[in-house]
Amino acid sequence: MKNLEVEITNFDHFGRGIVKKEKPIFIDNALVGEIVEIEITKDNKKYSEGRVIKYIKKSPLRVESNCPFYDKCGGCDLLYLSYQEQLKYKETKVKEIIKKFSGLECVKEIVPTIQYNYRNKITLHVQKKLGYYQKKSYDIINIDNCLIADDRINALIKKLNTIDLNTITKITIRVSSKESMLVIEGGKLDIALFEEVDTIIVDNQVLKGRGYIIEEINNLKFVISPDSFFQVNRLGMINIYNQVLKYVDNDTKVLDLYCGTGTIGIYLADKVNQVLGIDINKSAINDALMNKKINNLENIDFKLGDVEDVLNNNSFKADCIVVDPPRAGLGNMVIKNIFKIQPQKLIYVSCDPVTLARDLNILKDKYDVVEITPFDMFSNTYHVECVILLQKKD
Ligand SMILES: C[S@@+](CC[C@H](N)C(=O)[O-])C[C@H]1O[C@@H](n2cnc3c(N)ncnc32)[C@H](O)[C@@H]1O
Repeated sequence: MKNLEVEITNFDHFGRGIVKKEKPIFIDNALVGEIVEIEITKDNKKYSEGRVIKYIKKSPLRVESNCPFYDKCGGCDLLYLSYQEQLKYKETKVKEIIKKFSGLECVKEIVPTIQYNYRNKITLHVQKKLGYYQKKSYDIINIDNCLIADDRINALIKKLNTIDLNTITKITIRVSSKESMLVIEGGKLDIALFEEVDTIIVDNQVLKGRGYIIEEINNLKFVISPDSFFQVNRLGMINIYNQVLKYVDNDTKVLDLYCGTGTIGIYLADKVNQVLGIDINKSAINDALMNKKINNLENIDFKLGDVEDVLNNNSFKADCIVVDPPRAGLGNMVIKNIFKIQPQKLIYVSCDPVTLARDLNILKDKYDVVEITPFDMFSNTYHVECVILLQKKD
């Protein structure tokens, strides 16, 4: 197909420029008002996707990305916008989605994080060379530095690039404030080369250290083991948890649904009477139980299981329910159970504004949506988190 010259008229919720022809064309790295020459990379019945070949007129909002891998790497989407513009984009996106799908207008100003070096976890793939997957592909782009990763992760990426990785296929690097962990799949690693790393796990065998690392926040300790979810941005996590802490009332009974390693519940434990956390991931619940122990907490417990099943098969009482579901959101059954439990407060931590808006549209029947605060957790990507306070209607 011949290349096209087009003007970008809209910007979508995944950080792509849109051209409205007979059907829309979605174009990465293209801003509203820009005139670009594109080639069509995908042509579906309802939409096409294009790639910029040449910028004919650039937007005044465009900044040069300072990442040499940005054009090919599938990690960041918004590096061509200044951080202030990224924040504006995310706040507007949340406002638009919430208004469109739930009719609500109570979105507050976005809370920023840091733009670079925030990620405490990255996964590298190895196929002869070491790196990230390229955009929409399983081909590897070799990297020796990642702008959004912690400096200690970048030092390890550099070192890994200098050694023979033989049959290794995947390397995950995680760091906490004081410790680091390497998780290797598919082959051997000369661990003597990595004195600076606290724990090394190769093909599920702990070869060095405890097999997990510990993060410390506000004198609380949190275990991070290889298979458990842990928020990847420490500052973003603290901002969100402080918001939840502000919303919960003293001496209440709290249900922490989708609790992961129990971090939110543990953060609240000092203020409230009792917490019960529920999560489907066994490794996360094991970490949560360890977290309970190392923080000497008596008033928190955890249950392994699917939130929907556990709520369907038990009767709980709670003054406050905190939910932090994956992108799929809560869905009808979980909401039905929340309505049955009738907590005075519901605090919703969301990583997807679309499923959030869908859920709020049902929840607003029985709960007042008091305020929605967007939080930046993943700078330079289109992702945005939100914390929402809902109050039971009289
Ligand atoms: C966004 S994480 C939140 C974890 C935790 N609140 C935190 O801040 O670290 C979502 C969690 O939901 C859990 N999860 C996903 N589907 C689930 C389900 N159907 N029932 C229970 N937990 C689930 C995952 O294991 C994961 O720990």
